Amino acid sequence: MNQALFHYIAACPTAYHAVAYSAQLLQAAGYQHLPEGQLWDLQPGQGYYVTRNRSSLIAFRIPTGDLHSFQMTAAHTDSPCFKIKENPELPGSHYVQLSTEGYGGMIPDSWMDRPLSVAGRVTVRTPQGLAQHLVDLQEPCALIPHVAIHMDRKKDGGTEGYNMAVDLLPLWGQTGKSRSLRSRLAEQLTLPEEDILTTDLYLYNPQPGVSWGNFLSAPRLDDLQCAFSALTALLQAKPSATSLQVCCLFDNEEVGSQTKQGAASTFLMDVLERICLGLGQTRQQLLTALAHSLLVSCDNAHGLHPNHPEYADKNHTVCLNGGVVIKYNANQRYTSDAVSAGLFQLICQKAGVPVQHYANRADIVGGSTLGSIANTQVSVNTVDIGLAQLAMHSAYETAGSEDTAYMVQALTTFYESTFTAAEDGSYQLN
Ligand code: CO
Repeated sequence: MNQALFHYIAACPTAYHAVAYSAQLLQAAGYQHLPEGQLWDLQPGQGYYVTRNRSSLIAFRIPTGDLHSFQMTAAHTDSPCFKIKENPELPGSHYVQLSTEGYGGMIPDSWMDRPLSVAGRVTVRTPQGLAQHLVDLQEPCALIPHVAIHMDRKKDGGTEGYNMAVDLLPLWGQTGKSRSLRSRLAEQLTLPEEDILTTDLYLYNPQPGVSWGNFLSAPRLDDLQCAFSALTALLQAKPSATSLQVCCLFDNEEVGSQTKQGAASTFLMDVLERICLGLGQTRQQLLTALAHSLLVSCDNAHGLHPNHPEYADKNHTVCLNGGVVIKYNANQRYTSDAVSAGLFQLICQKAGVPVQHYANRADIVGGSTLGSIANTQVSVNTVDIGLAQLAMHSAYETAGSEDTAYMVQALTTFYESTFTAAEDGSYQLN
């Protein structure tokens, strides 16, 4: 399972690649692409997927019988990194640097002194108009060097005070000796450089994932470990007679989700509505199905830190290899409540998967995630879960070697189950 995870992470250096590679896996399993710009013809029992901006994807399988509910998972395709600006090269007297800005909240230190590569998408001029292409230079081509400790004693191993526009500019080459980024992209695309219109390019860590001891380390575990698990669960789950099985992979979680393709967009609701209308159902039937539905928002959680156990809440410490984590927050940064967390616990019990409960120390704000944001567009019972990991938002993160399989097992069982909500607040689980 972890080898397949490492393969997925390596194939997904950016959100665009995560969507393209997930689409490839879906196609291989018989899922069909539905363009948003065309009318949909839906068949019972068939799997489909829709993309938006080519950086978010929603895959789903139509039930074989009458639609009763939606069994939905969500994870995110993006990770904190550096976006390369439109005019990339910053020429100096000796060195050429790349002009970048931060995307999301990375741990700056972790990106330094390691070979980085460049991937993303470019748009090119064609005789008909414009075409989009994915690019991935794959090999090391940039590096952000630390200042030697002898020259900058104040740093002394700390990570505070890095200036994005000064300390974190990547080295690209030497003045007069290095090739331009665009010429390298044009070469990869076998196109004239002047045909490139514009770019969405990112620096990424090309280091492969590795298993060691009881752990695994890889780039982008937040949140590709959950994206991989949710997609794998959808692909291996048995078809449902009554539930629409849905897997959402959203872009832009790391920058607040407020984009046309993010969890705060209408993407999920648009897709659910089009499915219901395509199946000849009314809006009334769509809203009825939502009342019986559950959204499982999957994003990694902070595991107990070996050097800093004091950051964990004493009663809500979660550990690597301890199974799936349910996340709670009084201020609703996490959606889990007694009902949604209760239903998900029943699923994990049915799956034979251990569950851990996470809450931040009351004086630590913590992060936010997809669930509560998606709820502003699709109001549905939602639970926030994840896997315990260390060093979240580092260029190289660490998780437990047993947990991916737990997550896949829990989500597969979830897809194969259905809930029926009764008037008195009780639920029947099948
Ligand atoms: Co995340």
